[in-house]
Amino acid sequence: MVLVYHIALATLATLVVSTLALNNGLARTPPMGWLSWQRFRCNINCVADPKNCISEQLYMDMADRLAADGYKEAGYVYVNIDDCWASKERDPKTLQLVADPKRFPRGIKFLADYVHAKGLKLGIYGDMGTLTCGGYPGSKFYMSLDARTFADWGIDSFKMDGCYSRTEDFTIAYPIMEAFLNSTGRPILFSCSWPAYQIESIPDYPRIAEYCNIWRNFDDIDDSWSSVQSIIEFYGTDKGNFSGVAGPGNFNDPDMIIVGNKGLSPSEAQAQMAMWAIMAAPLFLSNDLRTVDPESRALILNKGVIAINQDPLGIMGKRLFKNSGIECWLRPVTPVGSYAVAFLNLNDGGSGTTLKYTLKTLGIQETATFNLTEVFTGTPLGVFTADKSITVFIDVSSVFLGKFSKISG
Ligand SMILES: *[C@@H]1O[C@H](CO)[C@@H](O)[C@H](O)[C@H]1NC(C)=O
Ligand SMILES: *[C@@H]1O[C@H](CO)[C@@H](O)[C@H](O)[C@H]1NC(C)=O
Ligand SMILES: *[C@@H]1O[C@H](CO)[C@@H](O)[C@H](O)[C@H]1NC(C)=O
Repeated sequence: MVLVYHIALATLATLVVSTLALNNGLARTPPMGWLSWQRFRCNINCVADPKNCISEQLYMDMADRLAADGYKEAGYVYVNIDDCWASKERDPKTLQLVADPKRFPRGIKFLADYVHAKGLKLGIYGDMGTLTCGGYPGSKFYMSLDARTFADWGIDSFKMDGCYSRTEDFTIAYPIMEAFLNSTGRPILFSCSWPAYQIESIPDYPRIAEYCNIWRNFDDIDDSWSSVQSIIEFYGTDKGNFSGVAGPGNFNDPDMIIVGNKGLSPSEAQAQMAMWAIMAAPLFLSNDLRTVDPESRALILNKGVIAINQDPLGIMGKRLFKNSGIECWLRPVTPVGSYAVAFLNLNDGGSGTTLKYTLKTLGIQETATFNLTEVFTGTPLGVFTADKSITVFIDVSSVFLGKFSKISG
């Protein structure tokens, strides 16, 4: 009962907040695409490493792969530039940001046109302070000009970082930038790093949701299972109840998908996709789409897990319990009254665990009947009422992701 009440409250909070939340028509479901940072960082050495340096060629290659290899059809449409794209100096006459002329010889507008011609969108990166984290020009004192420049170039998404700035500026700088983006008249998805710089305190999440489409709450992801686990723990703890602020147009961002890289085993990769779906998280791939192995690609394109991620209710799932390395998470999804459930086994040793539970033990008291499906394979597991017991086996470092679709009651 208590749990049902909490879910109802979370839903209510979403409705109440959404009247105040940023409404530029974007990110009605978590945005999907590709982002360079985790895999390609600030590699600017195009002489030694022409295929992997931050350059127009890298983003064109990724746009080609998104468009040709089925990613675009699955919803992955944003090609996001991260740090280290700019020249170290602004244009001395116009004061505009300029792309590095060696690595982006045709400029960002060219890249935007290239990406748009493939039916994709282009995102760019900047910083609210004097410099970006990598030491490139920041937008402090230039916010209006930078917003107009991005709109002129045809940018569709802007990630504003928070390095080289003063702590007390965050609550002012992000709203101001959002106003400048809005006044360009071009819909530009606004990705904020705002709460990630306030981890020690409790960020003002309702205010953040008023100005940002997505926001990074926590540390950057690395290519490792321990990094993925630390992020899951942060979102499970939900300090400040940020899960309740998520909804269409506004999502918490646990950072990039690292599936297709080197750091995750196949079952850990599946766990990342499952948890990012439960968390209603943006799906920004940060891998080398030119060399992704077929198994990772199939996982990234899995229709069942994407459908949960993109569920139109936009409610963020929450952790119900954590016990001896086993976690259970629940996300309300459509059709209304249905649930996605994840059991995550974070243990490193042994040969897995068999769990027996009922929906009642997860706090679902309804008299409804549910059709249970294993999400990754689409395997039907039968029809369940809230008190009929379900048995699942979860290996170590693995997830079980099920969808209980309400069929009656
Ligand atoms: C600007 O904000 C208004 C008010 O929220 C909104 O209706 C409009 O769609 C926004 N325009 C853009 C381009 O974001
Ligand atoms: C978050 O929720 C918990 C319990 O639901 C409540 O005790 C706490 O005060 C809330 N915190 C904030 C910052 O809203
Ligand atoms: C239950 O799920 C199975 C397979 O997923 C499907 O064939 C069946 O039609 C569903 N039943 C109802 C009543 O929705």
